[in-house]
Amino acid sequence: MSKGDTPVVARTRHQLHELVADRAEGAKVGLVPTMGALHDGHASLMDEARRRVEDSGRVVVSIFVNPMQFAPGEDLDRYPRTFDADLALCAEHGVDVVFAPSVEEVYPGGEPQVTVEPGPVAAVLEGRVRPGHFRGVLTVVAKLFGLVRPDVAVFGQKDYQQLVLVRRMAADLCMGVEVVGAPTVREDGGLAMSSRNTYLDREQRIAALTLSSALRAAAENADQGPDHALAAARAVLRAAQGVDLDYLVVTGPDLGPAPERGEGRALIAARVGTTRLIDNLPLQLGAR
Ligand code: PAF
Repeated sequence: MSKGDTPVVARTRHQLHELVADRAEGAKVGLVPTMGALHDGHASLMDEARRRVEDSGRVVVSIFVNPMQFAPGEDLDRYPRTFDADLALCAEHGVDVVFAPSVEEVYPGGEPQVTVEPGPVAAVLEGRVRPGHFRGVLTVVAKLFGLVRPDVAVFGQKDYQQLVLVRRMAADLCMGVEVVGAPTVREDGGLAMSSRNTYLDREQRIAALTLSSALRAAAENADQGPDHALAAARAVLRAAQGVDLDYLVVTGPDLGPAPERGEGRALIAARVGTTRLIDNLPLQLGAR
């Protein structure tokens, strides 16, 4: 498929299977799982998938707002749905197949009896505030892996805990998929691109910039160790208005305790107005 051609849309498992099977022998399949409302952050995942599978491979983007990962009262109903624009972005980035199934196609007979138990990493951070969320995410990702059978799957580092858990699932359950984490794409000013940014008004957008500023402060002070990094980020947040902090932590790359020296991660979640935002940055701890 060359850039600009509209990808073929598969609505059913059967159509998907036919389209993915129709490729040269040895050609790889790259999957970018999404919930739609696609933006430049997703486009970078499509480009990464293309790099991994090369010109001969198939890039599949799934667009499915997964009810299983939303708790009652969360934004399932108001989650932005922009299918035509999504398809145009996929075309611009040379995607071969868009898999956009109905809820019934993914969950025939309702919620599955067997689901993926995400383990202890799902009990912290996002999982503490959104119980059941990662069970829903890993279950649908496992289904997508089973349906698409990708060689490689690309996820954004923006949802860092999700990335850690998907990697863990693929390794622990021997799924034979290479899980790649692609760097977060940011708007001017540093706000991490997210489909939920469309909920923010102008004032809230300005307030939301505090999240990335705090993370940058942590990164700039990481050479003095995790405590200093955290203190520097907290100082930025103390001066912020309109940001209701949920958590700010410095951890190791697998979300365990932060080492004094080596790779780390700063992660933040906060509510701005009614919108919950998350962001994170890699840290080089104790380099000095
Ligand atoms: O990151 C997302 O958009 C979703 O959690 C995912 C991975 C597509 C599963 O529904």
